[in-house]
Parts: sequence; C-alpha cells; structure tokens
Amino acid sequence: MSAETIQLIAQEVRTCTLCGLANGRTRAVPGEGPADARIMVIGEGPGFHEDRQGRPFVGPSGKFLDDLLAMAGLSRETVFIANVVKCRPPQNRDPQPDEIAICTEHYLYRQIVAIDPPVIVTLGRFSMSLFMPGERIMRVHGQPRNIDGRLVVPMLHPAAALHQPQNRPLIEADFRRLPEILAQAEAALRPAATEPKASDEPPLEQLSLF
Ligand code: URA
Repeated sequence: MSAETIQLIAQEVRTCTLCGLANGRTRAVPGEGPADARIMVIGEGPGFHEDRQGRPFVGPSGKFLDDLLAMAGLSRETVFIANVVKCRPPQNRDPQPDEIAICTEHYLYRQIVAIDPPVIVTLGRFSMSLFMPGERIMRVHGQPRNIDGRLVVPMLHPAAALHQPQNRPLIEADFRRLPEILAQAEAALRPAATEPKASDEPPLEQLSLF
C-alpha cells in the first residue's frame, strides 16, 4: 500500500509544473528508498548531479552522505532519502518560501505519511525549519526532538561539512548516534503487549519521548 503511494507520488513529482523550478530542471528528483524505511533523511534540494540523474544525493555531498551512513552502520538502500524541494533551484540558489510551501504540501509531507518513519534526519537549515521553525542548527544539531510521535534529528548539511572541515567531526558524531536514537524511537513505539512489566520499566525520560 505505502509502496504504491510512494510510486504514485514519484510519478506526480516527475511531471510537476506547480512552481517555477519546473522550468529550469533537467529531471525532478522524487527521492528513493524502501517504503517501509525506519529512517527518512531529508536534504534541501537537488544539485547539478541530482538534476542530471533524477536521484537524490549522487554528487560529492551524496558520497559523503554514504560515508556518514556507513559510520552509523547503515547503507543508503535501507533509508529513504528525500529533499524539501524536488527540482534544482537555478545556480543552486536557496529554495524560496513559495517553492518550499508548494513542494512540501504536495509531495514531502505525503511521503512522510506514507513511509511513517520513527526517525527523520533533517540535513541543513531548510529541512530543519520545516519541523523546528526559528531554531538555529548549530544550537540543536544532533538533538532528537519528539515531533508528532517521531524523533526528528536536525543535522548539518553534508555540503557544509565538506566546505568547512571544522564541521566534519560534528556531523560525524551526530550520525554515529543514529542507531541509539533509532532504538530509542522503536522502544517508545513498541506495542503495549510487549512492553516490560511495571517492575522493569525503563526510565521516565525514555517513556516521555512519545
Ligand atoms: N543536496 C541536497 O540537499 N540534496 C540532494 O539531493 C543533493 C545535494
């Protein structure tokens, strides 16, 4: 069911003309990954390489993202990788508020509902701002927050770490914590029947996540 929905959304994205970004694109980039992924990674928007190939994170930032996922013991095939906007902004400029509003309402939020991941990793400030408007990435990076029943983890954008090497250890440390954050989210989602008895209850801060 959700795999079909993901396919349907991808088809709509590929032929979308709802905003001006459609005029300059080579290919739209719907996103990719398993429909039942437990982790969804949300970047900003396609760059040069992604626009050519129609796939997310396939340029230098994508290579680095693969390395970061490997540091967390994950491969790109196990996560769903999407973007805030699905078409490349001209000269890689920032996506504009109207482009973000149209693209997220029509596509990204529907992808999140269809996949329903316990953990969302936002890469960069545009992605973070969808969930934590007004926050500053350098203040909150790596700190999971319970938003609508899932853990959202804001992280620096891999391109920021590539261009500013002093950011590299920050993003690497944040990715290394992902398995622990996923386990926390999964434990909080576990059905009541399999919950431990009152005597073995986990600490309160774990229960309060959801
Ligand atoms: N940067 C992004 O934010 N997304 C991509 O898909 C590629 C680079």
